[in-house]
Amino acid sequence: MKFSMVLGALGTLAATVSAVKVNPLPAPRKITWGSSGPIAVSELSFRTTEGNDHTRGVLIDAWQRAWGTITNLQWVPAATEAPIATYPPFPTGAGLTKRAAKSIQSVQLTVADPKVDLQHGVDESYTLDVTATAGSIKIHAHTIWGALHAFTTLQQIVISDGKGGLMVEQPVHIEDAPLYPYRGIMVDTGRNFITVPKILEQIDGMALSKLNVLHWHLDDAQSWPMHMKTYPQMTKDAFSPRETYTAADMRDVIAYARSRGVRVIPEVDMPGHSASGWQQVDPEIVACANSWWSNDVYEYHTSVEPNPGQLDIIYNKTYEVVRNVYNDLSDIFTDNWFHTGADELQPGCYNFSTHVTEWFLEDPSRTYNDLAQYWVDHAVPIFRDAGENRRIMMWEDIALSTEAAHDVPKDIVMQSWNNGLTNIQNLTARGYDVVVSSSDFLYLDCGRGGFLGNDPRYDVMSNPDASVNFNYGGNGGSWCAPYKTWQRIYDYDFTTNLTDTQAKHILGAEAPLWSEQVDDVTISSEFWPRAAALGELVWSGNRDSAGRKRTTELTQRILNFREYLVANGVMASALQPKYCLQHPHACDFYYNQTAIV
Ligand SMILES: *[C@@H]1O[C@H](CO)[C@@H](O)[C@H](O)[C@H]1NC(C)=O
Ligand SMILES: *[C@@H]1O[C@H](CO)[C@@H](O)[C@H](O)[C@H]1NC(C)=O
Ligand SMILES: *[C@@H]1O[C@H](CO)[C@@H](O)[C@H](O)[C@H]1NC(C)=O
Ligand SMILES: *[C@@H]1O[C@H](CO)[C@@H](O)[C@H](O)[C@H]1NC(C)=O
Ligand SMILES: *[C@@H]1O[C@H](CO)[C@@H](O)[C@H](O)[C@H]1NC(C)=O
Repeated sequence: MKFSMVLGALGTLAATVSAVKVNPLPAPRKITWGSSGPIAVSELSFRTTEGNDHTRGVLIDAWQRAWGTITNLQWVPAATEAPIATYPPFPTGAGLTKRAAKSIQSVQLTVADPKVDLQHGVDESYTLDVTATAGSIKIHAHTIWGALHAFTTLQQIVISDGKGGLMVEQPVHIEDAPLYPYRGIMVDTGRNFITVPKILEQIDGMALSKLNVLHWHLDDAQSWPMHMKTYPQMTKDAFSPRETYTAADMRDVIAYARSRGVRVIPEVDMPGHSASGWQQVDPEIVACANSWWSNDVYEYHTSVEPNPGQLDIIYNKTYEVVRNVYNDLSDIFTDNWFHTGADELQPGCYNFSTHVTEWFLEDPSRTYNDLAQYWVDHAVPIFRDAGENRRIMMWEDIALSTEAAHDVPKDIVMQSWNNGLTNIQNLTARGYDVVVSSSDFLYLDCGRGGFLGNDPRYDVMSNPDASVNFNYGGNGGSWCAPYKTWQRIYDYDFTTNLTDTQAKHILGAEAPLWSEQVDDVTISSEFWPRAAALGELVWSGNRDSAGRKRTTELTQRILNFREYLVANGVMASALQPKYCLQHPHACDFYYNQTAIV
């Protein structure tokens, strides 16, 4: 009480309260803030009813991380919604000479069903209450995974009191749960190697923004970084012996992610994008690896980018090797889901396979769609053999592209990346569960130009109008230009015009970052804070209770969160001049705060 009086005397109480309110990100589904004024937070003791050793360990580690972050950072919100005149929001110097008589001293957690495993669809909901009268913070969750989210919320709302102590606005009542069970980002370690510590850094950002799926695109045609039990020779096609992942490395990533509520879904891209690694087992299982990728005539191209190589769909031994590789990785990756690729099959590649060309000659009515169907018929049973809980995920191309198979089982999850709403509409109408990764909205690598050398299209002296001469199209010159800003990501209404039945097939969304031009140096600044905009979109949506886009409201929240990520060691990009953080909405394009509908 004394506390709020002192603040009131400083005349900054209102500013303090609204300063607190930019936190947390993602915005909870339901949050009510009181105006009784902040209360001091002492060294919090943590209590939980949970008894099982393993889950208790996960909870205690998570609590210690959250509390460690609170006390180490002594966070002062870096962007506020407070009026310019009252900034900075925190009393400094004279003022809070004494701590409040009353303070919050403990966190009490109850978990209804602590044994539930971290798998797709797990209940991630929680409630969190802070009241001065109770003297404690009460958290209730159905599973420990919901409790972890409660901690990342709490750590963002307990902030510095400006005097070396901590405080939290109160009363606070939060009821929170995600809109979608699948909220992901995709790391590509095939085009450039990403070290384990940098992967863990992405997981830190994910946990803070409540993203829960790390889709790990392990290999690609260019390299094979994973050590395999059955075929140790595959890592001869890693970029170097050091640029590899041992089984222990992969297990470390999975364990680190799990303890932060993040699932790791592995992807081995097959049968396209396959040369490195596979060719070390038997060159004959890879078609066209030694072809020139484009032949300088695009009609004869063998791959969409160098280097070429696709698994030979007709050669029997392919399936033996696929089975062994898949089983080795299934032993390491604990998630029920496994992504088996299936994007961008290039017909031109198979002109280099005698197995495939003879198969076509045997029956001239055969098409590339039949060939894709052959893959589905022979590979999917192998993928299913991993057990009854196995769920297979593929890129949409296998069901929706010129070379699509005729009949792809409906229980395979489709990751949609082309044609925005059109493909989402198509796949959900056909009954597929869909993860939205529309490249026009969610591809984080776009807009930095293409990576190919010897490219006359970049010679602006001879091609003065790049937008005309550039076959990639669009400002920023890459096939998926322009660069996707956080606002474009956040504003994506990917369920537009879907029926209720179709909308139920949307499992969530994922932002991929293809790594042709990304490695350890820039991966974090490419993902963050843009992935956090996706985090909020799929956690609590992009509209307020009146149905209005809250993009502008997100501004101060994401500006603050970017600073918070950096403070937590996640090297996120700056979004605006610091002036804008300190002068809320001074940097908006329109003064009209409802310009975005
Ligand atoms: C490939 O496998 C199939 C089915 O197992 C078998 O019928 C066929 O004879 C095999 N082909 C060759 C060339 O070994
Ligand atoms: C593949 O070979 C066939 C038969 O020789 C030819 O008609 C076709 O143009 C070739 N396709 C490509 C993409 O090279
Ligand atoms: C999906 O797209 C394919 C290919 O364009 C088309 O043949 C099919 O009719 C579409 N299905 C639906 C339900 O929209
Ligand atoms: C949604 O449907 C309406 C009515 O058919 C149509 O006018 C609108 O263009 C559609 N929106 C999108 C984004 O496709
Ligand atoms: C603000 O923008 C909204 C949406 O474009 C518009 O309806 C409204 O008239 C604008 N308000 C003012 C004061 O211009």
